[in-house]
Amino acid sequence: MYTVTVNPHRKIGCIDQKIYGHFTEHAFQNIYQGMYAPDHPLADVTGLRKDVVDALKEVRVPVLRYPGGNFVSNYHWEDGIGSQNGRKRRFDYAWETVEDNQFGTNEFMQLCRATGAEPYLCCNMGTGTIRDAMNWVEYCNSNRDTYYASLRRENGFEEPFGVKYWGLGNECYAPWQMGGMNASDYAKHAMEFGKAIRFADPNAYLVACGFESDPAWNIEVLGVLKDMVNSISIHHYSIDWGCFNLHDYHQLMSISEFVNEMIKSLRAAIEGVTGDIYHPMKIALDEWNMFGWVNERVDDNSFYTLENAMVTASVLNTLIRNCNVVEMANYSVFVNINGTIQADCRGIVLRPQYYVFKLYTHHMGNVLVDSDVISEQFETNMPIDRRVFADYFNEAAVEKGGRLRSGVEKSARRSIKYLDSVSTIDETRDELSVALINKHPEKNVECTVDIIGSREVKNAQVHSIWSAKLNDCNTAEKQSVILETSEPICRNGKFTLELPRHSISVLKLTY
Ligand code: AHR
Repeated sequence: MYTVTVNPHRKIGCIDQKIYGHFTEHAFQNIYQGMYAPDHPLADVTGLRKDVVDALKEVRVPVLRYPGGNFVSNYHWEDGIGSQNGRKRRFDYAWETVEDNQFGTNEFMQLCRATGAEPYLCCNMGTGTIRDAMNWVEYCNSNRDTYYASLRRENGFEEPFGVKYWGLGNECYAPWQMGGMNASDYAKHAMEFGKAIRFADPNAYLVACGFESDPAWNIEVLGVLKDMVNSISIHHYSIDWGCFNLHDYHQLMSISEFVNEMIKSLRAAIEGVTGDIYHPMKIALDEWNMFGWVNERVDDNSFYTLENAMVTASVLNTLIRNCNVVEMANYSVFVNINGTIQADCRGIVLRPQYYVFKLYTHHMGNVLVDSDVISEQFETNMPIDRRVFADYFNEAAVEKGGRLRSGVEKSARRSIKYLDSVSTIDETRDELSVALINKHPEKNVECTVDIIGSREVKNAQVHSIWSAKLNDCNTAEKQSVILETSEPICRNGKFTLELPRHSISVLKLTY
């Protein structure tokens, strides 16, 4: 009943490794005490925690978005450079805390160098000016004998940092954002910021701020920016916005389908505005997580369970399926809060979702190939995203449960396969990988993987994440949800796998 038929000869698209990226923001203990803790026994000379840097390297972090998030909309990058003794203390109005600016652009670049991540900087389009943005680009990327480039050299960085990715503001549509604005104002501002950034560095790759729940915003903004930007971003936090019911397992297992809908909607806007279905313009899901930061127990390891890992893996499957248009994604965040690892003065805990990133970055290939999945399915009510509402900050309207703008009273019902699978190849290594998520909460299933035109296999392994209970988690005392390796059974050229209930596996074949 559970079968995956893979056609490794039908290539669908190239998978950009940046979909396994992360996000890091000056907030709570993500940076301070998380990544950067000069007083920690494991800190290196630059103040970075070696255990955290090693964890980032181990998941082969391709890209890191910085410095926010909401924080960036009142962040002045010049506060965070130069001698650390002289750096200004500022009040951070986004997270209501004092920011002492000990970590700034230079320290972030050291983090990127130490981990091998590509930096992705987001500009302050709230209280920042076009000039600030240009100066930041000059500081990072210029080789000239000019003020900001020389300042970088004086600070000990002779060579330019070479920052390619630049974000044009964070969630600029939002009432909670410093300097939030409407689509037409945003488009005008972003055009000028973009122009200025490109004056400072013609090779800058620009990411516009999209709005995950409002196609009208995306269409208006892209109408103005389509010849300027390379990509447009959206964000997704499933629980933060109250659109998913934490206690409804089946609905949680539909989160990836919801993310797929968001991508489809943005894709349609791009195609409509650019008239190009081959997508030179890409999508960046540059913040995402099953949990936002407003939940109780957000820092509590027992909250990050196998169930969370399953949602994380199925979102990665969705991103892989959309590889022709999604070029980057940034899990929000890497350390502490709702992140992949928890770090305190005692050490680090690798949460279940950490192993998902490790599984995918180590074992999935870089080309999506065709596959067909036969599976039992479940039915669920798709959630309603609060931010879909025309007046999405109007609680009363949200309570009524209707989509005010479209007039649809109830959310859609969907049939979703228990088996969520994507297949990839890596041509250089001659490998085929099949990701298999068994979303069934109770049933272990026997799954057959049939490969069209199969060849003799040199090595076959199954890498899996599983634990007996959906709410199993990892703590300093006990790692229950980890990555394990076994061997599959091969009969008549077909592989048979026992997929335990609520498990994530990758079948990897090397030829
Ligand atoms: O929860 C993190 C915050 O969520 C980010 O700062 C912001 O971009 C988003 O709204």
